[in-house]
Amino acid sequence: MDKEQNASCDRRGFLRGSSAIAGATAAGVLLPTHFAFGQQAKIKVGLMLPSTGTFAALGAAITNGFKLAIDERGGKLGGREIEYFLVDDESNPAKAPENTNKLVQRDKVDVVIGTVHSGVVMGMAKVLKDSGTLWINPNGGAGAMTGPLCAPNFFRSSFSNWQTTHALGKVLKAKGHKNAVFITWKYAAGEEMLEGFKEGFEKEGGKLTHELFVPFPQVEFQALLTEIASIKPDAVVAFFAGGGAAKFLKDYQAAGLKGKIPLYGAGFLTDGVLEAVGDAAEGVETTLHYADGLNTKKDNAFRLAYAKTYKLQPDVYAVQGYDAGQLLVAGLEAVKGDIGNKVGVIKAMEAAKIDSPRGQWTLSKAHNPVQDMYLRKVVGKENKVQGVAWKALADPARGCKA
Ligand code: BEZ
Repeated sequence: MDKEQNASCDRRGFLRGSSAIAGATAAGVLLPTHFAFGQQAKIKVGLMLPSTGTFAALGAAITNGFKLAIDERGGKLGGREIEYFLVDDESNPAKAPENTNKLVQRDKVDVVIGTVHSGVVMGMAKVLKDSGTLWINPNGGAGAMTGPLCAPNFFRSSFSNWQTTHALGKVLKAKGHKNAVFITWKYAAGEEMLEGFKEGFEKEGGKLTHELFVPFPQVEFQALLTEIASIKPDAVVAFFAGGGAAKFLKDYQAAGLKGKIPLYGAGFLTDGVLEAVGDAAEGVETTLHYADGLNTKKDNAFRLAYAKTYKLQPDVYAVQGYDAGQLLVAGLEAVKGDIGNKVGVIKAMEAAKIDSPRGQWTLSKAHNPVQDMYLRKVVGKENKVQGVAWKALADPARGCKA
């Protein structure tokens, strides 16, 4: 992308740019457009994801899902070939600006796909707001991205942290639980999921009595599990993901809490880890925007294609990567591959109805998916769908002025 194409990304900036082009075209001026040159060039896609550390498997699933969506369109975006640029963000917020700049300044990518960790999302936001580079976030739920920091070039194909636990309040109420303890890593994702749950549970008359934190990415849970045993709450709600979630589930069972104090969570607690935890997760109920057993035409086709291509079962991360690809396809097909036409790309992405394995979703004004939240229960090696816990749940996008 050249400097001119990459100019300011604020809404007025876009509109100024597009009306200037329209005016010049109407006047019959022959513009040496990016389009003419751009048609030959490959579209540069930057994947900034963890390929090491506790979230490495999540990064791999997102990459697989994204590439599957693109490969289903002949490996092209709006008719143009793609060149991939990869950065391992190590789930390290301190390195996020430097890592984002590797893609933006060094590689000059047209679009950034990333990332998993909410803290890294926050570090990416400043760089991508300044550069105006198109950004699709296929996981990290930091509320600020589609809240106070929302911007025309920022899109999510995943969730806000608040969305993933808000419906649990109703679920716990329906089970007759009057109080609960929340346990999580101490960083934005855990804190925001805790707040989403607390708001939903308290609306239902429940009480969150204890908030228990472990520093990210530590997995020493013993002391807090002993504390939970002595508190004896009606229920425990947890957010952990990847390797940390697998360890937590096994430790919960080993501490003798499984079967005594019901365990719930944002679905990340049990997604992508069931092969690793034996029967430690059996019966755990969670809410999330994807589940096993949806048995729709789209989901069945996706699962078959994913399993054939990667010899693996897909999880929520794979779906989010796939939908990041589908969203980008919608944007680029609308402008026939002319990524320099940012106004056109953004408009098409804003209007997209994504036919997702999770069910159809659209974007809110703040560019966050409005989507059904499923109640799931671990049965064997599946997060089996139990029903819809909250239909078309939209993030409140507090602080977004878009
Ligand atoms: C997050 O940091 O936003 C996050 C990480 C893993 C799973 C879900 C959310």
